[in-house]
Amino acid sequence: MTEDKKKKVATKKPAAKKATAKKTVVKKPAAKKAAPKKVAAKKPTVKKPAPKAAKVAPKAVEAPQTHVIEPKTPTQFLIAAALKDRAAKKAGKKDGPKEKIKITVQRAEKDDNGGLKTWEESFNVPYDDSTTVLQALEWIKGQEDGSLTFRRSCRASICGSCGMVINNRSRLACKTKVIDLVNGSPERNRQPATEIHIAPQKNQPVAKDLVIELEPFYNKVKGITPYVQKGEETAKEVNKNSFEQVNLVSNCIMCGLCYSDCTAMVENPNFIGPAALAKAFRFVADPREGKRTERLRELSEENGVWDCTRCGMCLDACPKGVDPMEAIVKLRTRAMSAGITDNAGARHALAFKGDMARWGVLNEPLLLVKTHGLGVIKEMGTALHLAKKGKIPSPIPHKVEGLDEIKAIYKELEKNPIDVETKAEDSGPGAG
Ligand code: SF4
Ligand code: SF4
Ligand code: FES
Repeated sequence: MTEDKKKKVATKKPAAKKATAKKTVVKKPAAKKAAPKKVAAKKPTVKKPAPKAAKVAPKAVEAPQTHVIEPKTPTQFLIAAALKDRAAKKAGKKDGPKEKIKITVQRAEKDDNGGLKTWEESFNVPYDDSTTVLQALEWIKGQEDGSLTFRRSCRASICGSCGMVINNRSRLACKTKVIDLVNGSPERNRQPATEIHIAPQKNQPVAKDLVIELEPFYNKVKGITPYVQKGEETAKEVNKNSFEQVNLVSNCIMCGLCYSDCTAMVENPNFIGPAALAKAFRFVADPREGKRTERLRELSEENGVWDCTRCGMCLDACPKGVDPMEAIVKLRTRAMSAGITDNAGARHALAFKGDMARWGVLNEPLLLVKTHGLGVIKEMGTALHLAKKGKIPSPIPHKVEGLDEIKAIYKELEKNPIDVETKAEDSGPGAG
């Protein structure tokens, strides 16, 4: 073979190899690509309906799905519970209140002779968990008897106009829920009620139905001079205790509920009453007041602070947490601290303290004499009656166990008196 031919062969062979190599290289990928293409082409045709069906299916359950999300986190559980609650309430509201309760209302109107004619009327009133006694009364007025008369304004325990006696206790009708009366309050010793009785406030004249005449109540408030007066006793500085004492009674809304439930008012209609006395304390405690001692002297007279029996009914009745009884106790303490002790109340308190410190027990016959002095003669009839029944104890007190300890307590209190207002030591302006 010539050199040229050898070269040709040599050049051809690789060429042939390249060609075959090219073929395999080209074909394989082509075959591979073709296969997936076919599958890919087929798949959409087969699977296309499936996604469509999948899209349609969620649409069909779209509405429930928005509320049927499976809660997994605590927040989701809370949201789910709130949604369920709201849905239940909405469903309940459609039907309206299902329960009914018998409500008996005391009616009253002036007769031709100026007297008061009273009678009772009962109604079956629908209620739910949120119905207040005021709403129940409005339902009666709207649906049953438009002549039913009662006061109301704010419906939010602010104006104090809807005070009335509900199941024998003085309360704000707008603050009292029917359901709470039905369930009772064991913590306040109030039994569950199967019906509700509503009457006008006590201790005050009735104008019509549940409306009382407010004049006597406001005259007593007017009587305590309900404003700060100019005088010598204005304090030079104001401390935190002064503010707290004034603030104690400034929540009063003049609803009269304490006055209505006051047991001392029943016995003595001339008693100033808890609301006016609480208001008086507000001015005695005010460091700007210039006639503090004069006020205390007036309040210590007959029908004033010493006529309170400390029964606690005013504290229980007050819807604003004012506690008039506490204010009265503070007025008494301030009066005695100011040396105003020439009255039966103060003498009684001092005699009581003296007996306890000396004998550890009261010497009741002597206590009466120390309290009333010569005025005790007026009580002789009662004393004789009690003596006949064997109810007058011996004037020589019996020996009391632990007397030394009682005496030690009194000695300690003499040395370190407790401030009755702050229950701690305080002698700043406005504190007495
Ligand atoms: S504590 Fe005094 S003011 Fe209050 S209700 Fe009883 S008697 Fe009246
Ligand atoms: S002290 Fe209480 S119950 Fe009495 S009038 Fe004021 S807010 Fe009403
Ligand atoms: S309506 Fe105002 S306190 Fe009840």
